[in-house]
Amino acid sequence: MRALLSTGNQHKLDEFRRALPGWEIELVKSTAYPPETGTTYVENARGKAEHGRSVSPEDAWVIGEDSGIEARGLDGRPGLASARWADDGVARLLEELAGVGDRSARYACTIVAIGPEGQEIVVEGTLEGAVATERSGDEGFGYDPVFVPDGETRTVAELGDAWKAIHSHRARATKALTALIFPTG
Ligand code: IMP
Repeated sequence: MRALLSTGNQHKLDEFRRALPGWEIELVKSTAYPPETGTTYVENARGKAEHGRSVSPEDAWVIGEDSGIEARGLDGRPGLASARWADDGVARLLEELAGVGDRSARYACTIVAIGPEGQEIVVEGTLEGAVATERSGDEGFGYDPVFVPDGETRTVAELGDAWKAIHSHRARATKALTALIFPTG
């Protein structure tokens, strides 16, 4: 299975490759991604997938992905703005949650895949957890040094890339994608 991932985020490419070991995944050849103007993850993921589709060979599947972290004590922020709400998003998250009782949060990921015939598949994955009070660990990216999944005592950055390839919001969404593309397999 060959697919082109429409992203400028190298970490996401690495994670897709780890989560879908039987797949051959390359980056869409584009440096000019349209701005993320959607009001939902699915709109943004579709925007990336459609952009990727427009610059890619027709025989490949193209994958657009949008994700974020939602803190319950902050009414779901930063959510869609996770990549953009501060130069150091982790520092801002820790700052905004100081003194907030509810530190529970979730990661959300939506994938829109567009096939060679223009068929569209939409899948989602989430990972529930809580925001730690300080950073630890050095794997993963983004908010991983402060995100502790439910049932775990360590952050995602400590649990590591191999753990993410099985349990993360992105891994869960890719599993759903595989099940839809290969319904019998
Ligand atoms: P976007 O999908 O390009 O808008 O970026 C999503 C942003 O959400 C990332 O830049 C991170 O800040 C955050 N995020 C999404 N998934 C993860 C993850 O697996 N680990 C840590 N941060 C994440």
